[in-house]
Amino acid sequence: MKVHLGGELIDAEQACVSPFDAGYLYGDGIFDTLRCYSGFPYLLAEHIKRLAQEAELLQLPFDPSPGTWNHLIRELLEANELLEVDARVRLQISRGGEPDTNHIDTDPDRITPMVFLHARPVSEHTRRLQEEGVSVLTMQSAFARGNFPQIKSLNYLPSIMALRFARAQGHEEAILVNRQNKLLEGATSNIFLLRGETLRTPSPRLGLLPGVTRARVMHLARELGLKVEEAASELRDLVTADEVFLTGSVKEIVPVVAVDGSAIAGGKVGPWTRKLLKAYHEDVNKARTAGNVSSSS
Ligand SMILES: Cc1ncc(COP(=O)(O)O)c(C=O)c1O
Repeated sequence: MKVHLGGELIDAEQACVSPFDAGYLYGDGIFDTLRCYSGFPYLLAEHIKRLAQEAELLQLPFDPSPGTWNHLIRELLEANELLEVDARVRLQISRGGEPDTNHIDTDPDRITPMVFLHARPVSEHTRRLQEEGVSVLTMQSAFARGNFPQIKSLNYLPSIMALRFARAQGHEEAILVNRQNKLLEGATSNIFLLRGETLRTPSPRLGLLPGVTRARVMHLARELGLKVEEAASELRDLVTADEVFLTGSVKEIVPVVAVDGSAIAGGKVGPWTRKLLKAYHEDVNKARTAGNVSSSS
């Protein structure tokens, strides 16, 4: 496997980062995962925009041009023979640093960040989850993603712990709530609840990562005629919803058919979830045909 590290395409076995990189020391850095469809990085501009916003909050030097990232991704996919398949690509920028770096007082512009990209094929498992739906486990509020939930930082421990707990108990995803028991998001996804023809997803004001897929799905749902609202839901709303699904760049749209062992809508994948997934795939194909890596309308 080849990876992009510090501007060079190298063998994964040769990839080394200093333990004095503040990404390693403090989780000081950001990352993003996007999906490439036969070499096409879908919604690349939106992913880069979010990374740029996060980089600004962390005062992390960052190149905000989608063209630059498109070039790096293409080189990476080509080197790994992933241009003809669907691939998940991780873009990561950590603070950088050397043995004598003072990570608190040094002007961030004087430390060169470490840029790291790697790619893997999207597994067949993802498609099965979309067809069959998944069960989820709700977690206590201690697992919510901390003080800066809008930043997908290298400090990802709450999500990882939540996911490990859920997987150990046979669930695909963990659902995070706040102290008032309002739904926030999945450990690695956003959540939507459908009731009648109204689609509801928690507002970012509650403290969550506003996913790129979430925004696109809201747009597509409106185009299909659904009423879409950003509003709070409670845990009990999950079991009484007509349909529930998760969104994320790699998983796209995944139906939720059970929560904490109770079936949702008889444990069957709902018709609107299927319709939205179809619309999502059509949107991908449209963007790919147009070959456009700048923002979607
Ligand atoms: C906590 C969290 N929420 C939501 C998402 C979905 O984001 P996106 O649609 O941008 O992939 C992710 C993705 O990994 C995530 O980690």
